[in-house]
Amino acid sequence: MRFGHFDDDAREYVITTPETPYPWINYLGTEKFFSLISHTAGGYCFYLDARMRRLTRYRYNNVPTDAGGRYFYINDGGDVWTPSWMPVKAELDRFECRHGLSYTVITGERNGLLAETLYFVPLGTDAEVHRVRLRNNGNGTRSLKLFSVAEFNLWNAWDDQTNYQRNLSVAEVEVDGSAIYHKSEYRERRNHYAVYAVNAPISGFDTDRETFFGLFNGWHEPQAVLKGACRNSVASGWYPIAAHQIDVELAPGEEKDLVFVLGYLENPKDDKWEAPGVINKAPAQTLLERFRTSEQVDEAMAELRRYWTDLLSRYTAQTGDPRVDRMVNIWNPYQCMATFNICRSASYFETGVGRGVGFRDSNQDLLGFVHLVPERARKRILDVAATQFPDGSAYHQYQPLTKRGNNDIGSGFNDDPLWLIESVDAYVRETGDLSILEEEVPFDNNPDHSGTLFEHLKRAFHHVLNNLGPHGLPLIGRADWNDCLNLNCFSETPGESFQTTENRTGRTAESVFIAGLFVHSAPGYIALAEAMGFDKEAEAARRAAAEMVQTVTEHGWDGEWFLRAYDYFGNKLGSEENQEGQIFIEPQGFCVMAGIGLEEGFAQKALDSVAARLDTDHGIVLHQPPFSRYYLEYGEISTYPPGYKENAGIFCHNNPWVMIAETRLGRGDRAFNYWKKIAPAFREDISEVHRLEPYVYAQMIAGKDAPLNGEAKNSWLSGTAAWNYVAIAHHILGVRPELDGLRVDPCLPGELTKLKITRICRGAEYRITIKNKGTGEIPHLKIDGKSIESTLVPYATPGSTVAVEVEM
Ligand code: BGC
Ligand code: NOJ
Repeated sequence: MRFGHFDDDAREYVITTPETPYPWINYLGTEKFFSLISHTAGGYCFYLDARMRRLTRYRYNNVPTDAGGRYFYINDGGDVWTPSWMPVKAELDRFECRHGLSYTVITGERNGLLAETLYFVPLGTDAEVHRVRLRNNGNGTRSLKLFSVAEFNLWNAWDDQTNYQRNLSVAEVEVDGSAIYHKSEYRERRNHYAVYAVNAPISGFDTDRETFFGLFNGWHEPQAVLKGACRNSVASGWYPIAAHQIDVELAPGEEKDLVFVLGYLENPKDDKWEAPGVINKAPAQTLLERFRTSEQVDEAMAELRRYWTDLLSRYTAQTGDPRVDRMVNIWNPYQCMATFNICRSASYFETGVGRGVGFRDSNQDLLGFVHLVPERARKRILDVAATQFPDGSAYHQYQPLTKRGNNDIGSGFNDDPLWLIESVDAYVRETGDLSILEEEVPFDNNPDHSGTLFEHLKRAFHHVLNNLGPHGLPLIGRADWNDCLNLNCFSETPGESFQTTENRTGRTAESVFIAGLFVHSAPGYIALAEAMGFDKEAEAARRAAAEMVQTVTEHGWDGEWFLRAYDYFGNKLGSEENQEGQIFIEPQGFCVMAGIGLEEGFAQKALDSVAARLDTDHGIVLHQPPFSRYYLEYGEISTYPPGYKENAGIFCHNNPWVMIAETRLGRGDRAFNYWKKIAPAFREDISEVHRLEPYVYAQMIAGKDAPLNGEAKNSWLSGTAAWNYVAIAHHILGVRPELDGLRVDPCLPGELTKLKITRICRGAEYRITIKNKGTGEIPHLKIDGKSIESTLVPYATPGSTVAVEVEM
């Protein structure tokens, strides 16, 4: 069952009923100011850091769900309704929400009055712009009252939820014409404030929540709206809000636009005040001047559309299947940008008060966006690398505002460092910019202790070699990619963090996954070392990788698949010997991606075991059998009921590893079939089962052992976005940059027979046409009409266009 449809030309998902199976959200903002907005206008916004600089309040775990956002209410001669349906839920004659690229348009119509509300964050702007377009489709003249409302958050979102004894006495606002200013704590150490303004005279306002809503009223019944009049309240302490009242007359057929701006402003510390106690509003005025008219809004929207057109033009495919095209060309890269901007901080499953930017997450996210914003990727790499410790290990997370490593969680996840090699390698392959390797980057953000970025990679690589366990496999530390495989944790205290508790020596538990990742990262590392002229280091790395392959073959192979780990006691995990957790997806994917066991037949066996034991209708589950009870020696993985999350859920992040691995064996049909099971556009028809947005991946789909099998959770912010993009765009469609050329090596399913792919890389444009005759043979390429012997297309001079024909 569907609740809307894709509009590919507009690059939008169009939701046609407000009663979707869950709030379906979008992100606004591309640079510093970001917002979450659901299809019924719920959500919130923040500047840079969802915890420390949150402008508007949002209540997770609310009843009903998703109540609270920026709402417009209409009182049309006593008939009160909201164009976004929520929160009033008055029946609409028409409802439509168009989630586009960094904007959302929600339209409601009732009794001949149409209200179209556009929400976006313009480029170069630290504000949400809302345009309300009202049209009288009826026969008579209408006098109606429009109300806006936004509830301010007292900046620090965590404190805002917990420290009422203080917070209920700090709120301060100023009202100046049609602009409402939120200035809590501005009198002391803050030099930032918020504004919510409209480009028209208002007939009333409220800034005190209780006055506007009534103490015992919910969002669906604000007293001021029901009565048809605000009371010009000025908040002092308690709960500050911004509500405008605008009286509108509309002749039949008449249309009126109102432009609202909800923004974040900063003043220099020594220029905070206009007069004693009165904030310096100069920056706000500059902001508001930019959105005085509806035409200015149109221009800003056009600019935003151009921005996305430009970004998305770097890889486009016409495959003959619109579902593939809309994922590859629009929604998957769009989601990759969301993970770049927000990391794992703020979504409808991440509250924005918890996690900072993850080291491994950021490095993996980069694989999906580096071709879109290479300059910004470069900066991200340098920021992330600066949180690495001198011994090569890394802070697991850092805070985006300070860019400092997060002490609360610290270090000890032994896969972390290797992801830096993967991301830098991807960046250099995309851009050819070797100079990044020579950048001086601090360790642990200490400017007195720094090394080149290459030195950081070297320490990352050697951190693994310096931390090998009894079998010569890498020690797992607190966890590897699977945060819930906590083999040194042994926690018996309720509520204790599995991520930070480490009460065993950590010198025995080993990870076959890290071994696979190590071998996988080695060729990139070696190529970079050679490019820098470090031939001895390259040679040493080559030997170390070969040894690791040997070790995995000897101690990491279980007979039909790769083992997962050795636990603290030196017992196998992910082995036929185990009762539960016999086979895990991660080492099968990564070891084969790394090329381990290709010749010996291990690779094929491992992937066949995945197909036989882990594949299901909704995707590949993480392991089998699930853990039916808590295992002290395995940690968080066994805390989830069977089928959820890391306990045998379908973790959409690691399914693509198996897809990519399948392409190494040349099995395009299998790879593609795995992808179709989890790709949102292919699950659109079962939205009532999947429940989450049909345009972005979810981190998890409940596995076959769960009662809610097939139901997704945790959409948007997940490494799933980047890895699925890599699987489909780089490996199945097969176009990916390498150091000396663009690799064009598709591994296609029989059902895709004629394709066109355009790739802009290092300034040149490659127009690729593919004829897939399904012979299963190695693709044959012609460049500008001339046959070549390999699948590597040498880089062309910037500005040129290259025609590549592929027959396979
Ligand atoms: C989740 C993991 C996540 C970890 C760290 C766990 O509860 O299951 O998916 O990586 O928390 O936030
Ligand atoms: C989510 C975390 O963000 C990621 O770092 C981790 O690899 C996966 N969960 C799997 O545990």
